[in-house]
Amino acid sequence: PAPAMPALREQREELRAHIVEGRFEGIRRQHSLGKRTARERIELLLDPDSFTEVELYRRHQASGLGLAENRPYTDGVIAGSGTIDGRRVFVYAQDFTVFGGSLGEAHAAKIQKVMDLAVSTGSPIIGLNDSGGARIQEGVMSLNGYGGIFRRQVEASGVIPQISVVLGPCAGGAAYSPALADFTFMVRDTARMYLTGPDVVEAVSGQRVSHEELGGADVHGTYSGVATVVHDDEESCLDDVRYLISLLPGNYLDPAPPNPSCEAHRDKRPRLAEIVPVEPNRPYDMREVFAEIADDGEFFELHAGWARNVLCALARIDGRVVGLVGNQPVVFAGVLDGPASQKAARFVRFCDAFGIPLVTLVDVPGFVPGVEHERSGIIRQGAQLLHAYCEATVPRVQVILRKAYGGAYIVMDSRSIGCDLSLAWPTNQIAVMGAEGAVNVLFRRDLAAAKDPDALRGKLVAEYTEEFMNAQYAAERGLVDDIIDPADTRAALARGLAMVRDKRKAAPRRKHGNLPI
Ligand code: COA
Repeated sequence: PAPAMPALREQREELRAHIVEGRFEGIRRQHSLGKRTARERIELLLDPDSFTEVELYRRHQASGLGLAENRPYTDGVIAGSGTIDGRRVFVYAQDFTVFGGSLGEAHAAKIQKVMDLAVSTGSPIIGLNDSGGARIQEGVMSLNGYGGIFRRQVEASGVIPQISVVLGPCAGGAAYSPALADFTFMVRDTARMYLTGPDVVEAVSGQRVSHEELGGADVHGTYSGVATVVHDDEESCLDDVRYLISLLPGNYLDPAPPNPSCEAHRDKRPRLAEIVPVEPNRPYDMREVFAEIADDGEFFELHAGWARNVLCALARIDGRVVGLVGNQPVVFAGVLDGPASQKAARFVRFCDAFGIPLVTLVDVPGFVPGVEHERSGIIRQGAQLLHAYCEATVPRVQVILRKAYGGAYIVMDSRSIGCDLSLAWPTNQIAVMGAEGAVNVLFRRDLAAAKDPDALRGKLVAEYTEEFMNAQYAAERGLVDDIIDPADTRAALARGLAMVRDKRKAAPRRKHGNLPI
């Protein structure tokens, strides 16, 4: 006779418990490496008891190289959905204790399934990566699996937020998944990401390099710009992912969650005038300005360690999420270079795709001069930022704190490229170039012929400054809407953003623009 229902249920529960528990040896090894297991990570990431798992019983159907005898359930990836602060997200976590988290056909199909569900339900997707890469025994079907993931990521780009968290190895083609995501988190010492590992590097170039030096969190957080956020441990990293989610919409049609309790319309911030020195070349930390204008002094900085001469952050003003872009005078005097342009361009495009208004805080001496910068394509990279701003249809407010010179003035969301509201402090200097440079170009011959060139230069600089760099010059010509007291910046932003909140602007009809990448 067939077994009774209770017995069947018991068997099923036993099996489920066995799968969920995982293999002791693998878990012990994972912990000894300072890493959490895939299930522990999901638990840290999601609200308690909110996880619904899909395809727990899935196993690979491959047979090569002994795989037929080794068919673990889950196939090395835990996938499903849960909530973060009550808002739905989809998640997958690669399980290094099963085949080293390597990706085969079934493993890839599970990831693709939750990606499809995330898109069809308009929810963010979060991938926790910890994997030896393409599962070697499954051959080209593993590569096919990656391709299907990458294609879905590109199709979902600008539709749902995509977050990639690297918590272990992520090598070879696998590294393109974090690279395609909107935000990539990495943890020091355990996360590593490279196209070819240290052995191949040594074989090809003779250079010996450690995993950490080649593809550790600080390499990608400081030099390559692949990592958006870097952490010391998994707990703080996953906690930060939760914070980021609290600032993001579920998809491009929904607004980012507001916090209606904040009231900024009449806020006075007298400290702003103390933070920013009047002298145009004295440095200050633009982060302090961000903290003064953001609700509760809080903002989420992206790429804090890369291209530090420009700052990008998500924050709330008057309870609503905005993207803050600001020049950073403490790093290279805040000049724009290639990486800074690319960092800001990608951020502007993210905000635009997801309906997040842009606030641009300008204090920029120009684009950086130099042979190396020209050779490495600063024109092309600067054009990316220009392109990003020009095509952005979200509400855009510019604040000019001090200097805004030349092409860098145009690029930092000037009136001419489409900002909706331009505010300036009384210390603003908007000009083609600084006074010294302008006088040297215009009066070269007079200066060469002068008996006392320094005195003449001083007089000409004063005249140029008075005529072209006075605080009213741009406002009188309609390029600045208002000159505001620095203490009123937060309130003026709140009012300005409210003014353009319901902005609707259709992008031109075409297949897509041709970003100069
Ligand atoms: N395919 C199949 N199995 C893999 C794998 C892969 N790509 N990567 C790791 N594994 C397996 C290992 O065989 C090992 O299995 P075992 O426990 O049955 O012995 C298990 O996962 C753990 O791997 P191990 O090498 O012991 O872990 P490690 O921490 O010492 O090293 C890596 C981790 C990722 C550096 C190492 O496994 C590695 O180099 N993997 C291959 C990377 C690669 O070339 N991938 C293919 C190209 S994308």
